[in-house]
Amino acid sequence: MIVTIDGPAGSGKSTAARKLAARLVVPYLDTGAMYRSIALRVVNLGADVNDAEALVEIARAARLDLDCGPTFTRVKLDGHDVSEAIRAFSVNSVTPYVATNQRIRDLLVEKQRKIGQSLKALVTEGRDQGSVVFPEADVKFVLDASLDKRAQRRHQELLADGEEVSFNQVRDNLDRRDRDDSRQWAPLLQPGQSVRIDTSRMSIAQVVERLVDHISQITGRQS
Ligand code: C5P
Repeated sequence: MIVTIDGPAGSGKSTAARKLAARLVVPYLDTGAMYRSIALRVVNLGADVNDAEALVEIARAARLDLDCGPTFTRVKLDGHDVSEAIRAFSVNSVTPYVATNQRIRDLLVEKQRKIGQSLKALVTEGRDQGSVVFPEADVKFVLDASLDKRAQRRHQELLADGEEVSFNQVRDNLDRRDRDDSRQWAPLLQPGQSVRIDTSRMSIAQVVERLVDHISQITGRQS
């Protein structure tokens, strides 16, 4: 069974996807980690983010290895574990240049489909998982929340990681990313294309219960 979870940053989808995968005992694929890893490679090489050709070359030459378990996705870039390094705020500002480059998207989409084919059952999370990568998925969710709520959540996470960043910086960054990212999941907002959940006033536990309930309803599966 393939379950896709798409939506904006800070909607709670990463935590919900991890917990859902653990409940279903299937691997969890964090596709944002792949875009972030390419962005980290761009940062490390000091490449010009406006040089689209150079970015494609950097993505092509990257060795990305993903280890997907029920509660984690660990990423190795060129043989080094970068699972933590890709979360730095400095990587956030380069990621949009990577994510809006169609040739890089094509490379990563192909890789994600291969992972899906080899794992067969998985919970995959990103922006285009139900719309582009796995249009034949068994269950498709879109998680969303208000911009302020999402910025609040992301700001807390970054402060906890020791990043010195203001609420407004985080809010502006999310707002900018939304403008590019929302195109990816827009088709899922058409009637009947996905189950949309507004998590603004929900705890993670409540979100996971809602996901599990929906999956149980359509598959008759008890979790
Ligand atoms: O999910 P996360 O915030 O880690 O993703 C980082 C960035 O990678 C997103 O803002 C988005 O631009 C990009 N992304 C994407 N398609 C995906 C996953 C992530 O464009 N499937």
